[in-house]
Amino acid sequence: MNTGQQPSPPDIAQAGSRSPVPPAGTHGHAPLAVTVVGASGDLATRKIFPALFALHARGLLPAETRLFGFARRPWSDDDFRRHLTPGLKCEELAADVCDLRQRDFLPRCHFVPGDYDSADSFRDLQRRLEAACGSPVHHLVYFAIPPTLFGRVAQAMRAAGIVTDGESPWTRVVVEKPFGTDRRSSDELTRLLGGCFREEQTYRIDHYLGKEVIQNLMVLRFANTIFEPLWNRRHIHHVHIAWSEDIPLAGRAGYFEGTGIIRDVMQNHLTQILALVAMECPWQLDARHVRDEKVRLLRQVVPLTRERTVLGQYVAGRLQGEPVAGYREEPGVAPDSCTATYAAAVFDVRSPRWRGVPFLVSAAKGTGTRHTEIRIHFRAPDNDLFHALLAKGAAGQGLLRGNELVIRVQPDEQILMRVVSKVPGSGFQLDTAALDLSYREAYAGTRIGDAYENLILDVLRGDRSLFIRNDELEAAWDLFTPLLMELDTCRQTPHPYPFGTPGPEARRELAARYAIEDA
Ligand code: NDP
Ligand code: BG6
Repeated sequence: MNTGQQPSPPDIAQAGSRSPVPPAGTHGHAPLAVTVVGASGDLATRKIFPALFALHARGLLPAETRLFGFARRPWSDDDFRRHLTPGLKCEELAADVCDLRQRDFLPRCHFVPGDYDSADSFRDLQRRLEAACGSPVHHLVYFAIPPTLFGRVAQAMRAAGIVTDGESPWTRVVVEKPFGTDRRSSDELTRLLGGCFREEQTYRIDHYLGKEVIQNLMVLRFANTIFEPLWNRRHIHHVHIAWSEDIPLAGRAGYFEGTGIIRDVMQNHLTQILALVAMECPWQLDARHVRDEKVRLLRQVVPLTRERTVLGQYVAGRLQGEPVAGYREEPGVAPDSCTATYAAAVFDVRSPRWRGVPFLVSAAKGTGTRHTEIRIHFRAPDNDLFHALLAKGAAGQGLLRGNELVIRVQPDEQILMRVVSKVPGSGFQLDTAALDLSYREAYAGTRIGDAYENLILDVLRGDRSLFIRNDELEAAWDLFTPLLMELDTCRQTPHPYPFGTPGPEARRELAARYAIEDA
């Protein structure tokens, strides 16, 4: 347990330095202002301010930091502070210490009401910011607003003169996903934001890249010698990237109804995971080389078609024994909505390393569990010495024939390798056992921070390696745009599946076509 002594605050350049990439363009001594546009919303309240508070509580923000919430509702500073308070938690601190940290943090939070397309509103913000921080000030702006507002806010900020172009003091802008709705709108948004911010000051965030296990993927693949010789079509039968969530939309239907699961999760979070699993080893560990390899890989993936995809939509079901309404019954959803809450797709990666290896990617809302994992399924051995025994299994059930590497991203971070093993004792029974690297045990006592904490620190340090580059975004949209255009015509209704189940039955048929048993 922490003693409660506030660690001395670092310069921005040193804030939480954890990546081997040296910080760029950071100048430690000016105060820091963080503005969250859309501060009344779900993301700001549940993720961004709690992450900023966690960084503050650990002494990772500069001493002279001020935080500004901007949104339309007419809140005072006090209203805003009351709104934020329940979300400010510090798991590893004693209650009285946490309380102290909150009392230091909340007075630094200010609220500026205004309209998203009004330059005058952002002039107000600038005045408040200068009054609180003086000048010069480094300024991190976070767009926590629906994507339809990105362009208008950027133009109003530019017109208000709140954006500085220089290296010191800097203005850096974090833009949330989904970035557009297809390739064309994404290009248009890039053009629009490009007129207001330089590419070097634009940070397109995908919070999955800040998750601990995702950051470990490159290390696992390229810092160990045992995986690379096996990481190819000769040894790997298929890869399954599986994402599921067990919560209803809870007020986000307005956003989700026009978005759907492919744009919400698959085009960004899961495509990034696919790229990191399948890409070649970057020449160097820096932002440019890592992102070059991801783009090269994404360009070798064949755009998705209807034949390789299964879509679903949850209907009424149960969660932990309690009834849950179907998607179409959610407030804000059309009674005949064709928006998919489930998608499974088999990607065809045409690189020499992967040709012929199916990559099954599945994303499901409204299931009975929340988990994200990557399963690398190896081929069965060429010799079939143990075939008969394996088919019988320890308790009579069939057993895995090849090995499987399971990389669990959440909820309990874990990397495990399933191997076939003899059950101890007389007789000769085989079993599938696991070599298990469970983070909870292996790194007991080490705090695993939220992805947003990691990524906000990277923005402060000017490290863009975990943010999405322009051409990455283009390549990702190109994979989905033809299919999305077809789906937007709503000619096909997604398969229904009850809330609390893993997805529509049709997913099994799709997987079976590629000899995948674990869909
Ligand atoms: P919200 O729907 O909560 O919107 C955020 C704020 O924007 C609202 O509080 C509201 O503020 C304002 N707003 C909402 N709709 C409109 C509208 N139609 N016109 C004008 N203002 C509006 O969104 P989230 O916080 O859920 O998401 C924000 C962004 O973050 C999105 O791009 C989303 O994709 C992304 N994101 C969200 C995640 C999450 O967990 N929520 C996770 C990852 C990304 P007010 O009315 O006070 O002005
Ligand atoms: C967001 C999606 O990007 O990711 C949400 O918009 C989803 O729909 C969320 O719930 C999941 O994030 P996490 O970190 O909870 O897995």
